[in-house]
Amino acid sequence: MNALDSGWQGEQETVKIYRERTATSCARHEEARRFLPGGETRSSTWFAPYPTYMVAGEGAWLIDCDGNRYLDFLNNFTSLIHGHAQPGIVEDAADQLTRGTVFGSASPPQVELARLLIERVPSIELLRFTNSGTEATMMMMRAARAFTGRDIIVKMDGGYHGSHDFVEVSVHPDMSAADQPVARLEGRGVPEAVLNAVMVVPFNNLAAMERLLSQHHERVAGILIEPMPNAGGMVPPAPGYLRGLRQLADRFGVLLLFDEIVTLRLSRGGLQEAEDAVPDMTAMAKIIGGGFPVGAFGGRSDIMGQFDPGTGANSLYHSGTFNGNNITMAAGAAAMSRLDQAAIDRINQLGERLGAGINDLFKRLGMRGQCLGYGSLQQIQWTDGPVVTLKDAARAGADSGALRELLHLELLNRGIYTSNRGMFCISTPMGDEEINLVLAALEAGLRALKPTMRELAPRLLQ
Ligand SMILES: Cc1ncc(COP(=O)(O)O)c(C=O)c1O
Repeated sequence: MNALDSGWQGEQETVKIYRERTATSCARHEEARRFLPGGETRSSTWFAPYPTYMVAGEGAWLIDCDGNRYLDFLNNFTSLIHGHAQPGIVEDAADQLTRGTVFGSASPPQVELARLLIERVPSIELLRFTNSGTEATMMMMRAARAFTGRDIIVKMDGGYHGSHDFVEVSVHPDMSAADQPVARLEGRGVPEAVLNAVMVVPFNNLAAMERLLSQHHERVAGILIEPMPNAGGMVPPAPGYLRGLRQLADRFGVLLLFDEIVTLRLSRGGLQEAEDAVPDMTAMAKIIGGGFPVGAFGGRSDIMGQFDPGTGANSLYHSGTFNGNNITMAAGAAAMSRLDQAAIDRINQLGERLGAGINDLFKRLGMRGQCLGYGSLQQIQWTDGPVVTLKDAARAGADSGALRELLHLELLNRGIYTSNRGMFCISTPMGDEEINLVLAALEAGLRALKPTMRELAPRLLQ
């Protein structure tokens, strides 16, 4: 049984309209199930009753295979900061395409994108490219272990950093623990041995980190944290929290590793710049590839210097057939050079306006909900109580029953594309008009769900 099986009248109506609008998607999905498990190649893009099949993107808009148009607030999970088919990016990528995609050699576009990124993020002195954020966090963690000669990485309870084994730990927070959660394997297939090398603490809790480090720092290589955990619910860091982690890392002699794969978009130099907290290493991905597969990890030159092949047998090995491929590099440079602080400030303001509008909506409709986030990244939380840790966010999500999924379908039915956890991400082709459209769709969708809410989650009504 999936979340959309409770059988309430309102729910059936929402699903019925979705099915009517997307009949061709349904047929495509049935065909896909013959070739891809569950019809999908990416767990995160699946949703019930079946995913929408998109066939084109234009700026802030997506078009599905039934011809429906959607304002895209997902932007491939925050990676398309300039929306779809931005002409300058298309031109530079196409120009490179005619001259070859990848040469199995060093190439100038790699140096250009590395230079652009290092100019933006002062804590990064040297970097390496990968093909995904997953590889970037994996290599960043390996570099930290090699540099310190220690095995343990401390991550946040509920933090997501990709899908390699050493981060498939406590991606969903421990709902039972009080102050000191216990690390748990996230899914089958991840070896138990991983738990010897990962520990977890609650997000936004310096005291818990201090306690853990005071006991275990001699075995800890580094602290891994997404400065604002996005899959965890876009829960912002408490004022001074990230700087506090820096101080603890220094005091206990461990490295501070930021996963800015999503948050890099929030300021020219990432959330580390906005929060004035300097990590030893940073992982990046998403926006830095201009819409093509990408990842990068970098940091202090003494740590990254371990990868210098010229240092002989002791150097760390890191390769990848398509690392630094010319298309990604050209598109990434085109995207990053179009993203100055003024452009970032503008989309951050639009995001804040959306967040304030959602908070206002909940109040006007007599519903207990709120929007959390930072600038161009916002997420609905189904509670009006404090959301400080990732356990708070997970509890609010779980308590909302199928409402998250239903609101997602209500928005799709009104031409708004988002994630089914209620995340909204702003791209540079958007302006006030797009914020007005999504707020109007949210108001209509929430009003349509009110009777269902009364049945499924009455505590959400005031
Ligand atoms: C914070 C964070 N880290 C790592 C990753 C993994 O990146 P990728 O999907 O490129 O492997 C993601 C992907 O969503 C992410 O949000």
